[in-house]
Parts: sequence; C-alpha cells; structure tokens
Amino acid sequence: MAVEFGTVAEWTADVVDELGDEYAIVAGCRGSGDPALLDWLAQACEVGPESALLDVGAGLGGAAAWAAEAYGVNPVLVDPMEAACRAVRRMFDRSAVCARGETLPYADNRFDVVWCIGVLCTVHDKPALLRELCRVLRPGGSLGMMVLVAGSGLHSEVPDGNEFPSADELRGLVAEAGFAWRRLSETPSGSTPTEWRRRADRVDELLAKRHGDDPRWQESEQRSQMLSHLLTTRQVTAQLVHAVKSVGSVP
Ligand SMILES: C[S@@+](CC[C@H](N)C(=O)[O-])C[C@H]1O[C@@H](n2cnc3c(N)ncnc32)[C@H](O)[C@@H]1O
Repeated sequence: MAVEFGTVAEWTADVVDELGDEYAIVAGCRGSGDPALLDWLAQACEVGPESALLDVGAGLGGAAAWAAEAYGVNPVLVDPMEAACRAVRRMFDRSAVCARGETLPYADNRFDVVWCIGVLCTVHDKPALLRELCRVLRPGGSLGMMVLVAGSGLHSEVPDGNEFPSADELRGLVAEAGFAWRRLSETPSGSTPTEWRRRADRVDELLAKRHGDDPRWQESEQRSQMLSHLLTTRQVTAQLVHAVKSVGSVP
C-alpha cells in the first residue's frame, strides 16, 4: 500500500504537470471517487461554503478539491502518507496534514463534517479510527464515508492491507463509536460523466506508458485488478454511509 499511496502519488502529480490542471481532480480521485458518489456525500452531509469539513485519508486530495470547487467549502485534508501530502500540494496548491486518522491533531468537536472515503477497509483498528472521527466532529455533525463491504460469498484473494467489514459489522462499528445512523446506500453506478472517464483513462495511459515496466506500478495495477474483480463479481460492494454524531456522545 505504501507503493499505491506513496510512489504512485508522486507519479500522478508528475502526470498532471504534463496534462494540465484540468486533469488534477480526476487524477486525485483515482480509485474511489466520481462526481455522483461525491455529490451523494456532499448533499447527505449538507456541505456548504461555511462548513468546517475534514477529509481523513484524503489521499491525493481529489475528493476535497472537488468539494471545494462544487460546494465552495475550504476543506482540511489529512493523510498518513507523506508522498500523498506532497502530491496534494503540487496538484491543488493546498496543504495536507500528515497524520493517521486514529490520532488526529485537532480539538474535540472542531468540525461540522468529516469525510473518510475508501479508508476504513484499509485500517485494522476500525473502532479507534471511528472513535477519533467522532471526537473531532461536533454533536449533530455529519460523517460521510465510502466503505468497501464484504458480501456473504467473499472467496477470492483480497489485496493485502484490506479488511472488509460486513454490512452488519459496519453498522455496529459506526453506532458503537457514538454515531446515529442516517443512510447506507450502494454507490450510484454507471453515471460517471464521459469527460471524467476520458480524463481518468488519459491519466492511466500516461502512468502506464511512463512506469509500465516498473515493478511498483505492476504491483499497484495488480492490486487494483484484484479489487475490481471483487467489485464486478459483487463479492464486495462500495457502500456510502451517512451518520451523525449523537448529541449525548463523549466528548
Ligand atoms: C483508497 S485511498 C482513498 C484516498 C481518498 N480518500 C480518495 O477517495 O481518493 C486510502 C487512503 O487512506 C489512507 N490511509 C491509510 N491508513 C490510514 C489511517 N490509519 N488513517 C488515515 N488514512 C489512512 C491512505 O494513505 C490512502 O491515501
């Protein structure tokens, strides 16, 4: 995973340098987000220009940059990978704080909205991560997540570093961390705009052209192919979560 979220992050920023700024958001969302998914999260969480939004595990910053452009918000980005944080600065001229979601450098109740997109299934101590997201969220504030969830027939190999919760486990984890459930919904599918897809393909082509012979690229490609097999065979589904911090929850 260090390759995927580290080395490939730097390579992606290089590719955006060559292709132009209009490729940055798409390149920065490589892997998880597209406009329909992000719009679902933004609307569910009622993101607006005044929202204090924290994106935990922000990766290359595409989701946060999309929210800034589409909803006028000024998000705070956190990711534990230094290379990803550097790529955010290069691609979006924004700073990203290098920290793990389990130990966030923020005061209690600091944010109106916390996003955590495609991260929970890469973290072993899920209760610790969710408790920390809850701690920094104000009571009544919104948690928006995209989580890869295991179906009952999961039998294929899982890329290491991933531990997919079942839908029931996810519901329990979120509630135990101090949230009240609002919605769990499968990600909207088949609605990626043509231009978005064209740019994503262009980024992938250029990455493959430049680094296709590099074992680190091959490792990252192998991991994405394993994930896409799990998704297309529905052994795993991508679920969107909206929950709110319960008013009585600690702190
Ligand atoms: C699949 S990527 C998703 C990136 C981004 N949220 C997106 O949607 O494009 C998972 C991200 O989680 C980050 N991550 C891994 N462990 C983490 C942790 N303990 N706390 C916060 N982020 C973590 C990785 O560095 C990586 O950037």
